[in-house]
Formats: sequence, C-alpha cells, structure tokens
Amino acid sequence: METEKKLLNLGCGKRYHKDWVNVDFYSDDKTIISTNLLNGIPFPDSTFDVVYHSHILEHFPKSEALNFMKECYRVLKPGGTIRVVVPDLERIVNEYTRLMAGLKSGKKELDADYDWILLQLFDQMARNVTGGEEKKYLSQKHVPNEEYVYAQMGDSFRELRQFLFNQNYGVQPKKSIFKRKITLTKLINFVKSHVPIKEYRIGNFRLNGETHQWMYDSYSLNRLLLNAGFENTEVAQANTSRVANWNSFELDFKNGVVYKPDSLFMEATKPYKN
Ligand SMILES: C[S@@+](CC[C@H](N)C(=O)[O-])C[C@H]1O[C@@H](n2cnc3c(N)ncnc32)[C@H](O)[C@@H]1O
Repeated sequence: METEKKLLNLGCGKRYHKDWVNVDFYSDDKTIISTNLLNGIPFPDSTFDVVYHSHILEHFPKSEALNFMKECYRVLKPGGTIRVVVPDLERIVNEYTRLMAGLKSGKKELDADYDWILLQLFDQMARNVTGGEEKKYLSQKHVPNEEYVYAQMGDSFRELRQFLFNQNYGVQPKKSIFKRKITLTKLINFVKSHVPIKEYRIGNFRLNGETHQWMYDSYSLNRLLLNAGFENTEVAQANTSRVANWNSFELDFKNGVVYKPDSLFMEATKPYKN
C-alpha cells in the first residue's frame, strides 16, 4: 500500500515494511539504511509523520535513552506520532511473582515456566555470547513447556525454533567462500569475532546491540516520553494505534497473532509548540 505519510522504523531487524524508511545497524537488504542509532538519527529535523521502534530501546544503555528519544522527537514533524514497543518489565515481574507463589505452594509443574521467565528477565542482559542461555533452551529437541513459551514469545518462538532447528539439525547449504559477498564491514566483524582474546570478544559482543541494557514499564516509559518533550502519552495494544492503517503494515500484529506478546506498546505525540 502506498502512503503519503513519511514513516520511520528504527532498529527494524527483520520486521519492516516497504512503505517505511527502515534503519538498522547492518542488513543484507539494501533498502535498509545502516547506521549506529547511538550516534543520532541521520535525518533532518521534522522529517517524519511517524517514528516507530520495537524492542530496541532496551538495547541502549539507560544513560543514552533520553538522547535517543530526543532524537526521535527532533526528526518527527509537529503533530507526529511516536510508537515505542519494549518488553514489559511489569508483566514479566508479575509473571515471575505468580510462578514463585505457585512453586512455594508446591506446584512443581511450574518449574520449566519459572526457568523461562528468569531467562526473559536476565539472559538478554547477562549473556556474553550470541543467543546466550535462551538459545540453549530453545535449541533443545523437546522444549518442556512449549505452549507456555509460545504464549510469552508469540510468533518469534516459531521463527527462532525453526532457525535453530535448521542450524542444529538441518542441512546447511554449502556456499563457496568465493561466491559469498564479502564486504569490508563483514570482514572486519569476522576478524573481530575471531580474535582470541576473551575480554575483547566479550566487550565487542556487548557493544553489538544484541544485549539488553535496561528495561521499562509503563511508568518509566511514560516518564521518558514526557522528558523527551512528547505529550498525549497512551498505552496501546499490538493492533491498536493512532497511526492510520496500522494493521496493514503487519509490524506488531498479523492475522490475529501478536508478534511479541511480552510487549508494552506506547504512543505519544510531538506537540505543535515547543
Ligand atoms: C531485538 S531486535 C528488534 C527488531 C525488530 N524491531 C523487532 O521488533 O522484531 C533489536 C534490533 O535493534 C538493532 N540495534 C540495536 N542497537 C542498535 C544501534 N545502536 N543502532 C542501530 N540498530 C541497533 C539490532 O541490530 C536489532 O536488529
């Protein structure tokens, strides 16, 4: 669908739509603009009608969050909408508390769910290698609480399971090294990730954007939006938005399925006056 509105999706990963300007660190897709968002958003003031980012804010150090949100504010037109999606700290903590209460009252069957919720809370912050403990959990041939994990992760669960299954048990297409396109960035990353100094490798990994650096709930995200200058903050749902035709873009929701059910969805507006 063509749209006249200028729409920006930051840290898009694999979740993007052709009607949007999509930005990430690196991508094999040439339509995606490569940049480190911690160095600013590479567009002039008041360029976009909508700025959207999903599961990226928590990847930035807490000290960088306000600057980043001010950058979002800067590139938005007055009257424009920001939509921010983050893992919902309150929801995860409530789930942890519920499981703890159940385990304390003897419900041993909650054991695997408890392990999973601890992974959700800590693994993305604590890991020093890609995928961390979560990858190990999801790589098991039989995930003991598949339905529970699916309810927490939504469709990303199926996508990740399939990816890991192919990696672990599938037949890998053998690509000749000469047929692969080697860019300078890929070469530098390859060399960096193979440097045999543990401390360097961990540091390099911790800066590559995969780990969580902080978490948010509706209180702290609302405060951050207000501090950045936004107004009319509101909690939305995966399939509700001020953005016209939101569901047609299939960024948070597709065919009745929420991509990331563990999320908090918030929207706000850039005021006309400063
Ligand atoms: C968890 S993924 C979320 C992807 C997608 N938005 C979604 O909701 O599925 C986080 C994305 O943010 C990107 N990212 C993290 N830090 C970044 C940075 N400093 N600059 C640009 N992109 C970054 C990562 O490359 C990754 O694609």
